[in-house]
Amino acid sequence: MSKQFDVVVIGGGPGGYIAAIRAAQLGFQVACIDEWKNAAGGPAPGGTCTNVGCIPSKALLQSSEHFEHANHHFADHGITATDVKMDVAKMIARKDTVVKQNNDGILYLFKKNKVTFFHGRGSFAGKAEGGYTLNVAGKTEESITAKQVIIATGSNARALPGTPFDEVNVLSNDGALRVGAVPKKLALIGSGVIGLEMGSVWRRLGAEVTILEGLPTFLGAVDEQIAKEAKKAFDKQGLKIELGVKVGEIVNGKNGVTVNYTNAKGEAIVLDADKLIVSIGRVPNTIGLNAEAIGLQLDERGAIVVDGECKTNVPGVWAVGDVVHGPMLAHKAEEEGVAVAERMAGQHGHVNFNTIPWVIYTSPEIAWVGRTEQQLKADGVAYKAGTFPFLANGRARALGDTTGMVKFLADATTDEILGVHMVGPQVSELISEAVVAMEFRASAEDIARICHAHPSLSEATKEAALAVDKRTLNF
Ligand code: FAD
Ligand code: NAI
Repeated sequence: MSKQFDVVVIGGGPGGYIAAIRAAQLGFQVACIDEWKNAAGGPAPGGTCTNVGCIPSKALLQSSEHFEHANHHFADHGITATDVKMDVAKMIARKDTVVKQNNDGILYLFKKNKVTFFHGRGSFAGKAEGGYTLNVAGKTEESITAKQVIIATGSNARALPGTPFDEVNVLSNDGALRVGAVPKKLALIGSGVIGLEMGSVWRRLGAEVTILEGLPTFLGAVDEQIAKEAKKAFDKQGLKIELGVKVGEIVNGKNGVTVNYTNAKGEAIVLDADKLIVSIGRVPNTIGLNAEAIGLQLDERGAIVVDGECKTNVPGVWAVGDVVHGPMLAHKAEEEGVAVAERMAGQHGHVNFNTIPWVIYTSPEIAWVGRTEQQLKADGVAYKAGTFPFLANGRARALGDTTGMVKFLADATTDEILGVHMVGPQVSELISEAVVAMEFRASAEDIARICHAHPSLSEATKEAALAVDKRTLNF
């Protein structure tokens, strides 16, 4: 007989596991099905984010940044570090430990919240009385029924047509996070978030990195002034980024990969590399879900069609995270997961898409929330801008990292904050203040009048808010 639940969540990534926990907190009998396997074949919940995304990439960014500091910045502090070596295998093993800690943490949270976990692939078998029947194909086959289902099956890396990932030479994010030795020459296609983060890791470790970007503008979604400042810093580091290229034939050979492309000037270039990372976006994943069994509607990109409340076209079936429209971010998936669980319980779950922060964890870091200056211009909104450089911030000087700035955009009439954009040290943390401010519909003056600790990088946020009214104190 099949096991019965109020709610079954398919997918244990940040969208799914958080939805399961919240639903359990609200009194539902909940199961979560996830198929991700660790190296030993055991369960590894956490999805892309935990296994081959957010967490492992940040672990490698941290290790490679330490290496960069030891090689290039310790001397400024009077520290001599000679013969600094990187043991790549150890770095990867540390990353794997960090991933496992997160996998285990989620399994513990399931237990704590009485969420039943199934390790295997979940698929729809069809409608059942008062709900749906699902099959779980793992070590054993199980049949379960649920009154309501949340689909959180995530996304997969997009491959270039004709160039499949072999994860040896042609790498997706998965292979890019477990390269065994520093490649001498590394090519990347796509200078988006993964291209910049992974390019930074391997450049810091000594690879000669070339990133090929199809668009003529660098980080088109980022505020232009911030993107320009970031590009300047990446150029200085030796991260080679070629914009406006057209990628042609790619040959995956015995000794590496050859990428033929046309550069922005129209010249034909042949680029030889030991490894190629393809980071040209991700596609929603519904593979193996048997969505047809319940008549689930997908759009032309393969994403599950949902309304503003994450309801699909099938009653009682919801979808969240990368598998639906919107930014492919872990915290967006989580917010949707919580909102859906609360809606199921008759509450007013809410996700504010205007205040979802973005962070790119390069050095300098890039972070933003709200609209960019180019978007405000396009929308015909009258605004005031204020910027403050980290060069004039005492803490940044003490840290030895004065790259970048904080920028505020506020409504010209009401002074309401419309966007905050940052490039510089630790802005991944600083951006939270801007998110809170925008959630509470604060004015730039509100931030300017709040006491910020001295010396701290957050003083640059206060000063940028003051700059909106042209009254910075330290610049
Ligand atoms: P996923 O995390 O993809 O989880 C889906 C889960 O469902 C997987 O475990 C999968 O195995 C499982 N599954 C799929 N189908 C089935 C099925 N039929 N049965 C059972 N299980 C199934 N976002 C950030 O916010 N910050 C970052 O720093 C960041 N860094 C990233 C770095 C990289 C290299 C990559 C690739 C992504 C990064 N992201 C980051 C994006 C983030 O990982 C995704 O937005 C997030 O994981 C989406 O969560 P999700 O729950 O929708 O899907
Ligand atoms: P992306 O959308 O960030 O960047 C893809 C880039 O590839 C774009 O600049 C695009 O113009 C370019 N491109 C596309 N096709 C191309 C082609 N044929 N030739 C040359 N260039 C081409 O996608 P990416 O980097 O793969 O990351 C996927 C998603 O994962 C991100 O959009 C983000 O949602 C998430 N992510 C988030 C991170 C974070 O929050 N720090 C880190 C890494 C990923």
